[in-house]
Formats: sequence, structure tokens, C-alpha cells
Amino acid sequence: MIIATKISEVRAQVAAWKKEGLTVGLVPTMGYLHEGHASLVDKAVEMCDRVVTSVFVNPTQFAPGEDLETYPRDFEHDCTLLKAHGCHLVFHPEVSEMYAQDAATYVEILSEMPKQLCGQTRPIHFRGVCTVVSKLFNIVIPDKAFFGQKDAQQLAIIRRMVQDMSYGIEIVGCPIVREDDGLAKSSRNTYLNSEERQAALVLSKSIFLGQQMVKDGERDADKITAAMRTMIEGEPLARIDYVSAVDGVTMMPIHRIEGSVLVAIAVYIGKTRLIDNFIVEE
Ligand code: PAF
Repeated sequence: MIIATKISEVRAQVAAWKKEGLTVGLVPTMGYLHEGHASLVDKAVEMCDRVVTSVFVNPTQFAPGEDLETYPRDFEHDCTLLKAHGCHLVFHPEVSEMYAQDAATYVEILSEMPKQLCGQTRPIHFRGVCTVVSKLFNIVIPDKAFFGQKDAQQLAIIRRMVQDMSYGIEIVGCPIVREDDGLAKSSRNTYLNSEERQAALVLSKSIFLGQQMVKDGERDADKITAAMRTMIEGEPLARIDYVSAVDGVTMMPIHRIEGSVLVAIAVYIGKTRLIDNFIVEE
């Protein structure tokens, strides 16, 4: 597995692969990789001849006061996991390689979409995500790029950006990977102490409750989110950021379960903000 820290190295290697007629998949990550990320790499290996994974904690998607400095990092472990899963190149740039000091250009979706859900409390987050993902697309020029469904709003926003900017890259969404007890895998789970880890199960429990209600025929989205909310409020360590049902493409609020719907939650467990969701396609 090649470890590249410079944009020029990535460009040269990808150009060589393309000259051989090989297809290239990109898995953008912020590192501290777990089985959720591994499933993206597995999918990329399955669908592409060569796989590039980026490991870069992107400062532009963190607001002042968020966890940029404390975001967990373990590059050695990341490389071991990536190698074991068949990744061909890991791109691990310094911040200065990705952003010149006078960088002043951002990619931003100017609709209501990034203002919904996580955008309500993280107003600059998706501008940072779109900017860095767009840069990674320009550096790697992949045929396909792989993102987790756990960050459902991010996935929808990337799809919108790719369409609006005519990137010509296929975006592949991959299912949420859960711990045995149901908690969605996340690098931020590492922030939880043992009491909080137990309390965090209320997220997946409420997701399973919502899913079951849909399965049982409930079509009133407000009833579903209300039941999920009540369940979460029963956990003393949990504080709700949002429990929402939105259109699966536009991310705008809906009240009835019909067409493509995303039911998404963000909940603080102690100081740690966790997200989870399910989608209904009818
Ligand atoms: O999902 C993430 O880990 C990040 O938001 C991404 C897509 C790698 C951009 O920094």
C-alpha cells in the first residue's frame, strides 16, 4: 500500500493507473478507522480496480469550539486496517498541503438543504465538507466515491454537489455498520465513558422503534418522531439535538411517510454528539 502525503504523488499514481485502463475508487475519511470505514473500502475494492483512501481531519468543517483538536487520530492503526482490506493508496496530507494560508474559495450549496438537521447547529459544517470533498475529487479524479449512509445528510449533499457541479463521479452510499448491541459505529464513540456507552444505546433503540412503527403501517411521521423522542427523553444522560423526518433527497421536513424519507436523529450523550438514522423507500 502506497502512503502519499503530497497531492502531486497522488496525481502521478492515479494517472499511471488510468494509463493502464484501471478504474479508481475514492473513500474519503477523517481517520480513526473502524469497521464502518472498512465496509466502504471493501465495497470500493469490490467495485473498482484501485482504491484510494484519504485520511485527513478537515479543519474547515469544524466550527470554533468543536472537537477539531481532540478528534481521535491513530494513523498507524488506520494503515493496518486499510492494508488488511486491500486499499492501494492512502492519502494523508498535512493541512498546509490541502489549504494554502490565503485559501479563500469554498464550495457551498446555497439552498435550504445544508441548513436542515445537522446544519441547524453546525452552520458551516457542510460548506467545509463540500470544499474538502470537492478538492479530493479534483486531486484523485475517481470513477466512484464511497460514503456511509450513517452521515445521511452529508451523502445527500455530496450527491447534490456532484450533480450541480457535473463531476461525473458515481457516488456509492453504503449501509450503517452497527456494534453487536446496535450502536452505530462512529469514531466519536471513543469519547464515551462506560456509563455513557450504555446510555448511547437509546439512539439505536429509538431508530429500531421508528423502523418498527413504519413496518407496522404507521404513516404519520410526526407520531413516529414523537415516539422516538419520548424514548430518548427517558434516558437521563441523553439530550436531543433533533429527531426529524425529512424528504430523502431534499432534506426538507415532511409529515407523511411516502416516497423516499429519512428519519434522522442527533443526540448528545454527555458532551458527545452522536447521530443515527433510517431510510424508508416506498
Ligand atoms: O465523513 C467524513 O468523515 C468527512 O466528513 C469527510 C467526508 C471525510 C470529509 O472530511
